[in-house]
Amino acid sequence: MNIKFNKDIFILGIESSCDDTSIGVSKNMSVLSNIVSNQKIHKKYGGVVPELASREHQKNIIPTLQEALKSSKISLREIDAIAFTNGPGLLGSLLVGASFAKSLSLSLKKPLIAINHMEAHVLANFIGQKPQFPLICLTVSGGHTQLVMVESPYSMYLIGETLDDSAGETFDKCAKILGLPYPGGPQIEEYAKGGDKNKFKFSIPKVKNLDFSFSGLKTNIKRLIEENSNKSKNFIANERRDLCASIENIIIKILIDKLTKAIDKFKVSSIAISGGVSANEYFRNEINKLKNKKKLNAFIPDKQYSTDNGAMIAVAGYYKFINEDFTNLDIAVKSRLKIGEI
Ligand code: KG4
Ligand code: ZN
Repeated sequence: MNIKFNKDIFILGIESSCDDTSIGVSKNMSVLSNIVSNQKIHKKYGGVVPELASREHQKNIIPTLQEALKSSKISLREIDAIAFTNGPGLLGSLLVGASFAKSLSLSLKKPLIAINHMEAHVLANFIGQKPQFPLICLTVSGGHTQLVMVESPYSMYLIGETLDDSAGETFDKCAKILGLPYPGGPQIEEYAKGGDKNKFKFSIPKVKNLDFSFSGLKTNIKRLIEENSNKSKNFIANERRDLCASIENIIIKILIDKLTKAIDKFKVSSIAISGGVSANEYFRNEINKLKNKKKLNAFIPDKQYSTDNGAMIAVAGYYKFINEDFTNLDIAVKSRLKIGEI
C-alpha cells in the first residue's frame, strides 16, 4: 500500500515508441501484467519500417490492452492513472500510443502521465530489485547507447553516449550482412553459442571520454565479410558461428571497457544495465564478472523488462504519480528527447 495515498496505486503503462506495442499494469512498485505484441512484419525488410510500425500499433493496441487488463485482473475503473511513452522514438508510433492514452484519460477521467522512454529503461531496474545510489546505468537499445548517472529515480543525467550508431543497431546491421532476419541481436546471440569468439579480430574504436562509436566497427566487419566472401562463396555459411561469436564479443567488450572507465572515474559502487541488448546472456555474464572483479552491486533487469515493455512505463508512471507530476492533453510527442527532458 502507498502510505501517502492510503491505498494501492494502479498505473496503466503504454509503450509504442518503436516496433513493439506493449501495455503493463503496475500495483505500487510491482508489476501485475506486461503484455508485448511483437511486430513480425519488419522481419523481411531487415529493419523497422516506420509507416508499417504505426499501422501495426493501431491494430494491436486494443487487444494488447484487453490482454493486459485480463492478466492483471484489474478493471479500467480501478486504474489510478494512464502513463505513456512521450519520446524518444518513431513519431508515427509514438502518436498511436499517446492518442490512445489521451482518449483513455479523457473518457475515464484519470490523470495522464508522460514518460521519457530512456528514463523508463533505467527504471526497469527497480522492478523486483532495490538499487543503491549513486549508480551508473549502461542503457543499450536499438536507438541508444548511453551511460547514465542515476542519483535517484528522479535525478539522472547523461555522462556518455554514442556519437553515431548504437550497439543494438550494430547487432542488427551485422546480422543483416550475415543474412539473418531483424532483430539481429537475438539471432547473433543464438549463432554465437559454440562459436570461437577469438577467431576474427576487430579493432576497438578510440573514442575520448565516456562516449562510444560503432560505425567504424560496422564498416570493419562488413569489409572483412565482403573480402572473404569474394574469395570463398560459402564464407558466411561456413563461418557464421565464429563470426557471430566474434561480433558479439567485440561489441560487448567495447561496452564493458567504457563502463569500467566510468566506474573508475566516478568511483561508484553500484551499476545497472538496461535496454534490449541487456537481454544478451554473454553481456549479463560479463557484467557479473565485472561486479565480482570490482566488488560492485550490479542490477540486471529481468529479460522481459530489458527489451521495450509497458511495465517499465507503468513503474516510471508510479514515481511520477506519487509526486503528482501529471501532464495536459495538449502535450506533443517528441521523436528526440534527452534524459531529464519530457
Ligand atoms: O530496447 P529495445 O527493445 O528497443 C529500443 O528502444 O530500441 O532494443 C532493441 C535492440 C535491437 O537492436 C535488438 O537487436 C537488441 O536490442 N537485442 C539484443 C538482444 N535482444 C534484443 N541484442 C543482443 N542480444 C540480445 N539477446
Ligand atoms: Zn527501448
